[in-house]
Amino acid sequence: MSNLNDTKKEEPIGNILKNKMPEHPEDVLTSFKDFDILMMRYDSAIREVRTKLEILNDELSLIGDNSPISSISSRRKKPLSIYEKLIKQENEITLGSVEENLNDVAGIRVICSFVDDIYKVARMLVQQDDITLIEVKDYIKNPKPNGYRSYHMIVEVPVFFSNEKRPMRVEVQIRTVAMDFWASLEHQMRYKKDIPQYKTEEIAKALKDCADTIADTDMKMLAIREKIGHDGGRS
Ligand code: GTP
Ligand code: MG
Repeated sequence: MSNLNDTKKEEPIGNILKNKMPEHPEDVLTSFKDFDILMMRYDSAIREVRTKLEILNDELSLIGDNSPISSISSRRKKPLSIYEKLIKQENEITLGSVEENLNDVAGIRVICSFVDDIYKVARMLVQQDDITLIEVKDYIKNPKPNGYRSYHMIVEVPVFFSNEKRPMRVEVQIRTVAMDFWASLEHQMRYKKDIPQYKTEEIAKALKDCADTIADTDMKMLAIREKIGHDGGRS
């Protein structure tokens, strides 16, 4: 088994396989046990960060706030998507390259009811002393031109294995229920290839309008909650 810690010595997977190229490009990666080990590490990192988020939510729910998190989902990038992204980035197709160049192999999506919960959850996660914040993209303060809103963080979490501790990267996307509703519809349009150009423009404009309406509604909902009081009238 090659040493996964040593990216420099690592042979490109394409070279290793030169005598036996598999039929499907993603098999270049899946055929290696080391790849499975790396994926297991990302799965473990997802579990670590998910648990942190669940604990924060449990605690915050008990000390008065309504649950700041309404749901958490996670996914690990599929081998073919890993392969395609490395190709697109013109990076080497090696395991070291995956760890070095891809920040979103492990992904967690956190759905909050209110916009201020997004910032609270993000702050509380990042202030934990074993979490290292690598990158923040605040598409709520700075929405994308298409109207996309969400708070993205790349964090690094140490994961303990049998004989080592490894820092693993996880992409955390935090958004409101309304932002998530919008993003899933926009995502559907993005992957529909058979829509004529004029229609795409029309849909893009309608989606942008919806995104702005949703952002406005999110702010109004927040203002209403402020008026009701933070414990939602439960006390
Ligand atoms: P990717 O190469 O797509 O990962 O983008 P990036 O590395 O520039 O990171 P960014 O933080 O901009 O986006 C990461 C992820 O956020 C994407 O993979 C999507 O899941 C989500 N995302 C970003 N922009 C959009 C968007 O316009 N629409 C939707 N539906 N999702 C988006
Ligand atoms: Mg991505």
